[in-house]
Amino acid sequence: MRIRRSLIDLDDLTAEELAFVFDRTAQFERKDPGPLLAGKACANMFFEESTRTFTSFNLAEMRLGAHVVNLAPKNLSLATKGETLEDTAITLGALGIGLLVVRHQEAGFPQRVALAFDGHVINAGDGVHAHPTQALLDIYTLIEAFGEIGGRTIAIVGDILHSRVAHSAIRGLARLGASIVLVGPEAFLPGSYAGNGVSVERDFDAVLPEVDAVILLRIQRERIAETPVSDREYIDRFRLDNRRLGLLRRDAIVMHPGPYNRGIELDDSVLEFAGWRYARQVMHGVGVRMAVLDLLVNARQP
Ligand code: NCD
Repeated sequence: MRIRRSLIDLDDLTAEELAFVFDRTAQFERKDPGPLLAGKACANMFFEESTRTFTSFNLAEMRLGAHVVNLAPKNLSLATKGETLEDTAITLGALGIGLLVVRHQEAGFPQRVALAFDGHVINAGDGVHAHPTQALLDIYTLIEAFGEIGGRTIAIVGDILHSRVAHSAIRGLARLGASIVLVGPEAFLPGSYAGNGVSVERDFDAVLPEVDAVILLRIQRERIAETPVSDREYIDRFRLDNRRLGLLRRDAIVMHPGPYNRGIELDDSVLEFAGWRYARQVMHGVGVRMAVLDLLVNARQP
């Protein structure tokens, strides 16, 4: 029997475990499950800014009755006193920390932590690589809207290349049998993304009438030396605005992992659109993370 100790990307979860996480999310949202992590200590190590992910991991841990420590990089000897990542992991383990939630600007960092740390590690976003719990809450939001994801067509629009959210969502949605249409300019979306249930399109207007859901992305400017597409061009071709909302099917939904940049990838009309699901996504982030914490720490078997 293999016990799933860490969640670095969605591939670490079997199909059964994915379904289990979604069932447990629904249960936990209906009724607080009580202190399933009583007496356990969790540390959240965020080397990069975070509002939604950080807050929802904190709430999820606290609702499950865990002891919660938040380690900002400036508090870590790792950053300024030459302590290695491996020695930091030993130290946190000796303090009784059983689970680390890690966000870092470097792809692969949480995996390195997982190799050194005698406990569970959850990747809360590493560079452009992966953001598995965001993909889980996105998929959960789509299941809530449509029941079944298989056979649905989901567009992901914008800076795919630099988006760990997109990379994890593509993996998850493809596994669940969705058709994925990626939309964006060449500089943010090389043609090599096409294949295995994924298509690449440049014409947003042509895609809109064909899809069940649109996931918008922020341009990840902090990961790009010089933005290769001007704001003017991006807005003209890819901003979701009132006119483009009119091209969607009546029951289509629009999502965004946040933070969204008003005036760039969307305008204010999207925030008033009946199918705008952003607040549901954020809300589900707590339940999904409670389900993941319980799965890993309590070694649940679906
Ligand atoms: C994203 C992230 O940090 O990966 N936000 C999130 O966690 N919900 C997306 C982004 O920064 O644009």
